[in-house]
Amino acid sequence: MKLDITNQIRNNQIYMDYYQELKQLEKDRIYCKHDFDHFLDVARITVLLASKNNIDMDEDIIYAAALLHDMGRIAEYKDGTPHHIASCDIAKEVLEYIACDDEKKEVIISLIRCHRNPENPPGSLQFFFRNADKISRKCYACDVIDKCNWPDEKKNLDIKM
Ligand SMILES: [Fe+2]
Repeated sequence: MKLDITNQIRNNQIYMDYYQELKQLEKDRIYCKHDFDHFLDVARITVLLASKNNIDMDEDIIYAAALLHDMGRIAEYKDGTPHHIASCDIAKEVLEYIACDDEKKEVIISLIRCHRNPENPPGSLQFFFRNADKISRKCYACDVIDKCNWPDEKKNLDIKM
């Protein structure tokens, strides 16, 4: 399947400038980074979870949201703005330059806004997207697991699917 919206975002200079800025801010980070490896893990796991649960979805929207969902970390590092809020602002800015329906843009923003919300309705795309974000982290292979501020009960100590 061709990921048209996703690749428009990846090819957008504003997006890539933010990506490079985040990469720079995280260059000495010892914990999980927020980079294309993470974004694509989140996208692929969301697609898997949604398809296993027979949820109707547009993969391009999921991948697009995954590319954007942690960009607000830039603002969080700088001034403490919660990153899901700041990511929505960056997504709106970038999506101005992306050719796609407004309805699709709204779903992308909604996935980003809800990606830390523990009260997403079970079975919704937002629910699976949030779970994918958590499952994606490989705590079982992490060198700094003892320093991580994730509560022990939330760490992925086993490989999950
Ligand atoms: Fe994430």
